[in-house]
Amino acid sequence: MLRRQLVQAAGLTAMALALPLAAHAADTFKIGLILPMTGQQASTGREIEAAARLYMAQHGDTVAGKKVELIVKDDTGLPDVAKRIAQELVVSDKVNVLAGFGLTPIALAVAQVATQAKTPAITMAAATSAITDASPYMLRSSFTLPQASVALADWAPKNGIKSVVTLVSDYGPGNDAEKYFSERFAANGGKVIEKLRAPLRDPDFAPFLQKVRDAKPDALFVFVPSGNGAAVMKQFFERGLDKAGIRVIGTGDLTDDEQLNNMGDGMLGIVTSHHYSAAHPGELNKKFVEAFRKANPNMRPNFMAVGGYDGMHMIYEGIKATKGEGGGDALLAAMKGLKFDSPRGPVEIDKETRDITQDIYLRKVEKKDGQLYNIEFDVIKQVKDPGKAKK
Ligand code: PHB
Repeated sequence: MLRRQLVQAAGLTAMALALPLAAHAADTFKIGLILPMTGQQASTGREIEAAARLYMAQHGDTVAGKKVELIVKDDTGLPDVAKRIAQELVVSDKVNVLAGFGLTPIALAVAQVATQAKTPAITMAAATSAITDASPYMLRSSFTLPQASVALADWAPKNGIKSVVTLVSDYGPGNDAEKYFSERFAANGGKVIEKLRAPLRDPDFAPFLQKVRDAKPDALFVFVPSGNGAAVMKQFFERGLDKAGIRVIGTGDLTDDEQLNNMGDGMLGIVTSHHYSAAHPGELNKKFVEAFRKANPNMRPNFMAVGGYDGMHMIYEGIKATKGEGGGDALLAAMKGLKFDSPRGPVEIDKETRDITQDIYLRKVEKKDGQLYNIEFDVIKQVKDPGKAKK
C-alpha cells in the first residue's frame, strides 16, 4: 500500500515537473512574422500585420488544439537585421514557421536560416522569382514579377504602345520585371528604347525621367516596390511627361491600393497588371475589404495585405492537416500543393516550386465612389511563375 502510494506520488511529481514545459511546447504554435515596420517599406509591414491579425480574429487563435501565437518583429528593411531576428526566433522562441519578408534581400537572408533550421518560411511580400529556389523550405503567398510583367507585355503592343523605356528599382524584382517585360514586348514586335535602373534606397527619379522625356517613347514601363509609386508619379507629372504624350504602364506595385487614392487624378487611365486589386469583384473580396477597413479604419488593403492574409491561411491549413502535431518537414509537406479561394481569386501553391499560381489581371485606374481604384478589365487564368518555367 505504502509502496504504491509512493510510486504514485513520485509519478505525479514527475508529471507535474514535466507538465509546464511539455504543455508549453505541445500546446502552442508560434509564427515568427518578420516585417519592415519602420523605414522606406513600413507600409508593407503595416498592411501585412493588419491582415494577419484580421485572419486570426476571423478564424480564432486555436487550431487543431494548438494556441496560435503571432510574434511580430521589425527588421527595419535590412537583411542583416532580418537574419539575426530569424535566428533568434528559431533558437530562442522556437517558432514553428517564419513569415513576412518585405524585400527580396530579406527573403534571401531568411532562406538560409530556414534551410539550416528545417523551418518552413512563407514569403508574403517579396517577389523576385529566385526566392523560392533559395531554400527547399521557402513557400510564397505573394506573387512574382515575371508573373505580373508578361501579361502587360502582351497587352501593350495591341493597344498603341510600340516603343517603351523601362524604369525599375535596381535589385531583384526590378531586374525580373525589366527582363520579362522587355523580352516578351520585343517578341511581340515592340521596341525597348532604353532600360533605366534607379537605386532602391532614397531614389531621385528626376534624372531618369529627364532621359525618358528625351527618348520620347510611346510609354514608360515602371516597377518600383510597394510604397514608392507616388514618388515616381509625382515627378512624372511635375516634369510634364504626361503632357508630352508619354503614357505610363507598369506592374500593380506602381498603383498600390495603399497609395493610389492620394496620387491624384493624373493617375486616371493608367493600365497595370497584377494579382490583386481592392476593387476585385466577388463576395470573398468584398467581405475581406469590408472587414479589413472595419478593423483598420484609415487603411485600404493592398496586395501586401492579401499576401499576409493568404499566408496565414496556408499556415492554418498546415496546422489542421498535421493535426497540430507537425513541425518542419510535415508542416512544409502539408502546405505544398494547397489550393484555395483567396480574396484575389483561386490560387494554388505549386507542389514542385512552392510558388503561387494565380490569376493575373489587367486593370485601369478609374474613379469609383469618388475614389481611385484599379478596375480589372481582363484576366489571364492561373499563371505559373514564368521564372520557373524557363529552367
Ligand atoms: C521585393 O523586394 O521583392 C518587392 C518588394 C515590394 C514589391 C515587389 C517586390 O512591391
